[in-house]
Amino acid sequence: MDFIGANILSVSQFERGDIDRIFAVADTMVPYARREKVTRVLEGAILGNMFFEPSTRTRVSFGCAFNLLGGTVRETVGVSASSLAKGESLYDTARVLSGYSDVICMRHPQSGSVAEFAAASRVPVVNGGDGANEHPTQALLDLYTIRKELEGKGRSLDNFRIAMIGDLKHGRTVHSLCKLLCLFEKVQLVLVSPGELAMPQAVVEKLREWGHQVTITDQLEPSIKNVDIVYSTRIQEERFASQAEADRYRGRFRLNRDIFTRHAEPNTVIMHPLPRDSRAEANELDSDLNEHPSLAIFRQTDNGLLVRMALFAMLLGVEDKVAQYARPI
Ligand code: CP
Repeated sequence: MDFIGANILSVSQFERGDIDRIFAVADTMVPYARREKVTRVLEGAILGNMFFEPSTRTRVSFGCAFNLLGGTVRETVGVSASSLAKGESLYDTARVLSGYSDVICMRHPQSGSVAEFAAASRVPVVNGGDGANEHPTQALLDLYTIRKELEGKGRSLDNFRIAMIGDLKHGRTVHSLCKLLCLFEKVQLVLVSPGELAMPQAVVEKLREWGHQVTITDQLEPSIKNVDIVYSTRIQEERFASQAEADRYRGRFRLNRDIFTRHAEPNTVIMHPLPRDSRAEANELDSDLNEHPSLAIFRQTDNGLLVRMALFAMLLGVEDKVAQYARPI
């Protein structure tokens, strides 16, 4: 695909070569993310960072990624802080804010809302999560992390095994990641959830059509036995009709050091898109794994910066100029 000026709305827009390009550019961002060098390649450019749903790492890492390339960030956080609360349409909001920014990142609770916004925008729009639909940049950073973790073990993105655990119905990160995995070969997936929170059938069918082996189960312990990656997710309580309904599932799948040690292969990698729900009644990924070398959750968040820097550089057509505008710290 031609990245310059493109919207990033869904992982379905990517071909395998696009992923290779994003990851190659992300690799070049390491010295800037580590503060070994600075670059001002986006000096003068403005990111409109609009988050109409809570976020910590997506919002902040989009902003930091843009800052690390020399650009400036303007944020809108929460519907109540914008004129959407006065009934302004996404169309009008997009027309206005795209006059103030060079690129816009947006999170919104409704599926399809970011695409609707992008259709009216005069600058590229990146989907930071639209309801339960997609979270394309999370899937990219997850896949980048999986690739790095597998490479450390002499493996590749073709022919690996992953267990996805939790609320697979509402989890936009797993929806996007599964669709992205359809660009690769012979992935074995174990999808672990309560039956009511199963992965949408359309996603499962796409994986199977592609030739991937998909197992669906509600049993945690046998599912983590023979996999390279365990990808835990939170019960997305904000997507349920009531807290009481979400509470029926919170705490259903708890991965801790004891269960991991007894059931998983020792070098299995543990991932989670975060936030993990650390409250006692949920605790799907226990803090007793915090110092475990298999826990890759903070390597994921660090990688998010690299991938988002790469995307900004590519969307604004400056990826070849990053080094030219660089100097040592
Ligand atoms: N993974 C993720 O989207 O985290 P935030 O909700 O904190 O942005």
